[in-house]
Amino acid sequence: MKRFVLAAVAAIVMSTAAYAETIKVGVVGPFSGPFALQGKNFKAGIDAYMAINGAKVADNTVEVIYRDLPAADPAQSKALAQELVVKEKVQYLAGFYFTPDAMAVAPILKQANTPLVIMNAATSAIVTKSPLVVRTSFTTWQTSTPIAKVAHDDGVSKVISVVSDYGPGVDAENAFKAAFEKEGGKVVEAIRMPLSTNDFSPIMQRIKDSGAQGVFAFLPSGPTTLGFVKAYNENGLKAAGIKFFAPGDLTQESDLPALGDAALGIKTTFHYAVSHDSPENKAFVEAAAKAIGNKAELSFPAVGAYDGMNVIYKMIEATGGKQDAAKAVEAVKGLTWVSPRGPVTIDPESRHITQNIYLREVTKADDGTYYNKEIQTFEKQGDPGLAAAK
Ligand code: PHB
Repeated sequence: MKRFVLAAVAAIVMSTAAYAETIKVGVVGPFSGPFALQGKNFKAGIDAYMAINGAKVADNTVEVIYRDLPAADPAQSKALAQELVVKEKVQYLAGFYFTPDAMAVAPILKQANTPLVIMNAATSAIVTKSPLVVRTSFTTWQTSTPIAKVAHDDGVSKVISVVSDYGPGVDAENAFKAAFEKEGGKVVEAIRMPLSTNDFSPIMQRIKDSGAQGVFAFLPSGPTTLGFVKAYNENGLKAAGIKFFAPGDLTQESDLPALGDAALGIKTTFHYAVSHDSPENKAFVEAAAKAIGNKAELSFPAVGAYDGMNVIYKMIEATGGKQDAAKAVEAVKGLTWVSPRGPVTIDPESRHITQNIYLREVTKADDGTYYNKEIQTFEKQGDPGLAAAK
């Protein structure tokens, strides 16, 4: 009897101890190659969150394990996620810059008993691929819808749209078209470019030839967006008075020094500007700038990652550190907090983030630096793309 009691006590102690261990979070993103700065921003956001909130949730220590995925590569994404789950025994998967990489991981979540917290990938349909997906970034439907009204209010009635030919680009094209036509405008031509396109001169010629008064564009942030905005300027479209409308991916802050005056006056709509004026953002920018080492390199993936960590901390709290993906996701449905970007909620139905979308204009500060200046707020925007994704 005594031995039985001792064994029972030992079992309880051990099981309690098991829940007060290290909780591993596996983060997949581009940490090398042309998009490395985007991955660096994931890490800066995560480091900032842990610097401000500590590395412990109750008794559990949080450890983040990074895996490098330099470009969109669904097969490699799935392999990395499986390795993180099986070998590293991560309880949470997070990160994912490109849509195809996030899509590839959704089918393994249930068996792995692992939630997936998406810190960037922005195609609406991703959240419908598994009930264990939660997203803290944005969708291109969310960010491309309000810019259509801006274009119309600017007196533009004929627009040509140019997007990268994959999930978020197709979503952006559809979102802009739907909203612009509702305003009475017309999309005269819709161009889809391969994701690998880096010579934009022929596209610029087609834009000029189309007779449109404005161009709507989406490409994933990185060297691609920098090249596209440069080409718009260098091929004389700006000089010809063809206006430029886009979601904020096209004027991410880290690109602005290289764009210089070429970007001045460009209007974009987006969920986050580094210049956002709030105490929460001030604290975030200070911590994230310290983490990244150079404030000029900060961009939006950092805030998606920061808020993603907030969601994961809440999940760890709700499960007491135990691996229970369904319970973890359930616990963050409806979660509401003030992000560095402004007030946000995890929509309980879609598990996507509801947030303000801001109209911003690229502006030169007194000290000669460039920034996205917020000039209008579209409050509490859900994802208009989810109806389309069904
Ligand atoms: C995506 O692949 O979903 C994606 C990547 C970069 C962006 C936006 C969307 O800037």
